[in-house]
Amino acid sequence: MTSPLLPGTALVTGASSGIGAVYAEKLAQRGYDLVLVGRNAANLTLLAESLTAQTDRRVDVLVADLADSAGIAAVEARLRDDASLTLLVNNAGLAANGPLTEVAADALTDMLTVNVVALTRLAAAAGAAFSARKRGGIINLASAMAFLDTPRTAAYGASKAYVLNLTLSLDLELSPNGVQVQAVLPGYTRTPMIAGGANLPPEAVMETADLVDAALTGFDRRELVTIPSLEAVSAYDTWASARTALQPFLSLARPAARYAA
Ligand SMILES: NC(=O)c1ccc[n+]([C@@H]2O[C@H](COP(=O)([O-])OP(=O)(O)OC[C@H]3O[C@@H](n4cnc5c(N)ncnc54)[C@H](OP(=O)(O)O)[C@@H]3O)[C@@H](O)[C@H]2O)c1
Repeated sequence: MTSPLLPGTALVTGASSGIGAVYAEKLAQRGYDLVLVGRNAANLTLLAESLTAQTDRRVDVLVADLADSAGIAAVEARLRDDASLTLLVNNAGLAANGPLTEVAADALTDMLTVNVVALTRLAAAAGAAFSARKRGGIINLASAMAFLDTPRTAAYGASKAYVLNLTLSLDLELSPNGVQVQAVLPGYTRTPMIAGGANLPPEAVMETADLVDAALTGFDRRELVTIPSLEAVSAYDTWASARTALQPFLSLARPAARYAA
């Protein structure tokens, strides 16, 4: 079933570069007004001016550091108080690369605050506001790494598994209220995040516009989980079925017989 995106205003986090900037552009072309969030005020303002000139949409800039509680609170307040908002693109994210035992503690904390804490709090704020209005959408940028072992970027991969899991549960909570949620799982995508990835095989790297076009098509089709590069969707269905099949055995009064002394 195809359903057009809801009209209104989209708040895009991490809109100052890469995937978020392309979401902003594509959503403006689809008729959305925008709130662009990030730390880089110069990039956000440049993008806002260019999108307004190209599309005549209203584009606001909200400069906020999502590794900081005041920044998170400022975006939460906007989500709570701006009744024109109909879509949250929870895109801001970063990696802290290196073996977990060697990554600086502050870098780990910042990454987990942006990728996990801020994303969750913004989804909660948007979920509450959209539920009250019985309409809206939340797009959470996870990663293909949600399905992978990710040595040398273990906590980043785990943060993206969190985003996938959060979205699956959030869908159960919010879809009865008329709120659509989607997890997007990009593989390598040509953005500043993989600037150091010159050695990646070209066939493994997607162009950002292709990624966002596919993800928005998935959203139009009300896909809960969109893996833009995955041709055989049955492979994802097999994973989801295996997960469901475990369910009856995960909480029982007795340990399994193989653990008997
Ligand atoms: N590129 C890939 O291969 C790939 C693959 C899978 C998933 N993803 C995910 O896609 C999303 C976008 O990544 P990208 O590739 O487009 O990376 P990017 O070009 O590096 O953009 C990251 C965005 O996040 C924002 N951000 C980072 N730290 C922030 C903070 N403390 N406060 C507010 N905003 C912050 C940045 O804005 P400011 O610098 O202005 O703050 C920037 O706009 C991320 O969640 C990433 O994990 C990317």
